[in-house]
Amino acid sequence: MPSDKRNGLAAVPRHIAFIMDGNGRWAKKRGLPRTAGHREGARTLRRLIRDLSDIGVEYATFYCFSTENWKRSDEEVSSLMKLLEDNLDDLVNYKDENIRLRFIGGRERLSDVLNKKMEDSERNSLSHTGLTVTLAINYGGRDDIVRAAKKAAQMCLNGEISPEDITEEMFTPLLQTEDIPDVDLLIRTGGELRISNYLNWQISYSELYFTDTLWCDFDKNELMKAIDDFNSRERRYGDAK
Ligand code: FPP
Repeated sequence: MPSDKRNGLAAVPRHIAFIMDGNGRWAKKRGLPRTAGHREGARTLRRLIRDLSDIGVEYATFYCFSTENWKRSDEEVSSLMKLLEDNLDDLVNYKDENIRLRFIGGRERLSDVLNKKMEDSERNSLSHTGLTVTLAINYGGRDDIVRAAKKAAQMCLNGEISPEDITEEMFTPLLQTEDIPDVDLLIRTGGELRISNYLNWQISYSELYFTDTLWCDFDKNELMKAIDDFNSRERRYGDAK
């Protein structure tokens, strides 16, 4: 449900998720390599986290690297990973901004350096009470559901539950998002109209907002446009009018 901390203005969605698309095209338009687009995208991410915090959004989840992104060139994959390894602390300034930082996605394929930084930042920001920023790295919505299904199956094998005990309510916290509420608003930049295996379970009742604006050009003004649009929608969660 939306919260209303924006100085008495229209309600602010409680949880906004972002598909940050268009970095490659942003770079190409300027005759730059795709990696330069990702570096600029990282700057956009940093700025936007501050804006989201300022307007009182409680949860923001960003698709940084999908389970399918490994198919990209070695050069692009390693530059994205290096961007995260080198700049994680800078990318999300969790120390100064009271941000709780979390990660979703499979960690097995990520480097030891990155894993260590992720664990440290999660631990160090655990008690922070401001915006919860979740970075999805090597994340896939289907993979998330399969991992949760394995946990539920194991619980059955252990005799902790029986198959009849598996309900939506008990399954939801088995997902990597655990206690994070469902997404209220999903924003995808870059003009494509698809979900790309992102938070499949968690966006079941989200409002979807697609914009042609490339991620590197997305700013607070664009964010407020998306929120205004969100506020014009009637959310019925399957109920009749
Ligand atoms: C999609 O644009 C973007 C990504 C696959 C990565 C998103 C990464 C960032 C915004 C940088 C911050 C995150 C990290 C990892 C530090 P695209 O490359 O598909 O662009 P295109 O559709 O124009 O080709």
